[in-house]
Amino acid sequence: MAERLIALVDHRTAPLPAPQAGSRAPAGTLRDARGRPLRDLRISVTDRCNFRCNYCMPKEVFGSEYAWLPHGALLSFEEITRVARLFVAHGVKKLRLTGGEPLLRKGIETLIGQLAALRTPGGGKPEITLTTNGSLLARMAQALKNAGLDRVTVSLDALQDDMFRHMNGVDFPVAEVLAGIAAARQAGLTPVKVNMVVQRGVNDGQIVPMAEHFRGSGVTLRFIEYMDVGATNGWRMEQVLPGAEVIALLQTRFPLLPLDPTAPGETAERWGYAGADGRHDPALGEVGVIQSVTQAFCGDCNRARLSMDGKLFLCLFAGQGYDLRALLREGREDAEIEAALAAIWQGRNDRYSELRASLPPEAARAMRRVEMSYIGG
Ligand code: GTP
Ligand code: 5AD
Ligand code: SF4
Ligand code: SF4
Repeated sequence: MAERLIALVDHRTAPLPAPQAGSRAPAGTLRDARGRPLRDLRISVTDRCNFRCNYCMPKEVFGSEYAWLPHGALLSFEEITRVARLFVAHGVKKLRLTGGEPLLRKGIETLIGQLAALRTPGGGKPEITLTTNGSLLARMAQALKNAGLDRVTVSLDALQDDMFRHMNGVDFPVAEVLAGIAAARQAGLTPVKVNMVVQRGVNDGQIVPMAEHFRGSGVTLRFIEYMDVGATNGWRMEQVLPGAEVIALLQTRFPLLPLDPTAPGETAERWGYAGADGRHDPALGEVGVIQSVTQAFCGDCNRARLSMDGKLFLCLFAGQGYDLRALLREGREDAEIEAALAAIWQGRNDRYSELRASLPPEAARAMRRVEMSYIGG
């Protein structure tokens, strides 16, 4: 008897829009429905992580029973590189590898090498960055640099060892992450950034120690407001410590001065440490606050996200993504995929963080679905 195929409907898949008139040839000038360009592609390369941070992959949900994606469901390096090439033709200038934990994807250096060979329409190399929990960085930093990675951002929520071991859920020592940061600096994966997700009542006591530790070290520390991403972390507004409060707290210890953005659509508001003359001292460096809850930055959001199984998400909080893997595996030509990307971006109207502020909490909760570990930060 012939095997019966059962079609599974994936609630995370959105139907592809019809191509729009004049949307075919990529020229790097695409605008979405709110006039925003496409500049940043974040590529999640694995759904797995060796940490179990409570706000991202709580152990109760991501335990031994959890059904991880089979290898065949993941985009191959060739598929990722092809999609990235078409995005770069459409104007993307920054590629960020995320996960899960991207350094767990076997052969990641090979993928980085392939991405590093891409060229923008102007002939430049797209910037290639990676967000990691730092656990494997000490042993991999130099090989990543050699492969063509430009810089890394390390997630680190506490310096105090017991607290860090508890927060990462797997008793991982902070010293090894600090060694990873040092190795990244040594390898020239700079400027190294450190992202700290601040949860009121959990790790807010670490704000000043973290600032003291990284001030003047060449590492840029950024404080992220705890977000209501996904559906498993039980987020509550009371757990958010506004970025403005972080800056006010730091100001009591170190004078800080506001700095201009380095690029349009940037996530972080930048603050520079002042020197003895009252001016920003570049040797002391800077901190950033990423205030997506209290100061939404959707207005010029130029980021697209590709999941490890080839779905394109237009917002960190989107419930559905567009199935690019199907297009790749149906054998579509580059021109067809380029036209699909153009139509998808031109139809984009997402601005979840802005809407959250005006919606009742239940309505906001009902809007969000995918997990951060699925589409990366
Ligand atoms: P740089 O190029 O180093 O400035 O990186 P980035 O800030 O663009 O990226 P990163 O991955 O370091 O982002 C830091 C954090 O900001 C993420 O972990 C998320 O928590 C948050 N974030 C990044 N992009 C977005 C976004 O588009 N929307 C929202 N709401 N949060 C975002
Ligand atoms: N709120 C804010 N940031 C988060 N991250 C993961 N979950 C959340 C959340 N709920 C961050 C991690 C890491 C990046 C991948 O995303 O700290 O820096
Ligand atoms: Fe892993 Fe990063 Fe999520 Fe922590 S926040 S569980 S390190 S993907
Ligand atoms: Fe962009 Fe969505 Fe984040 Fe707004 S909430 S900044 S639209 S990813």
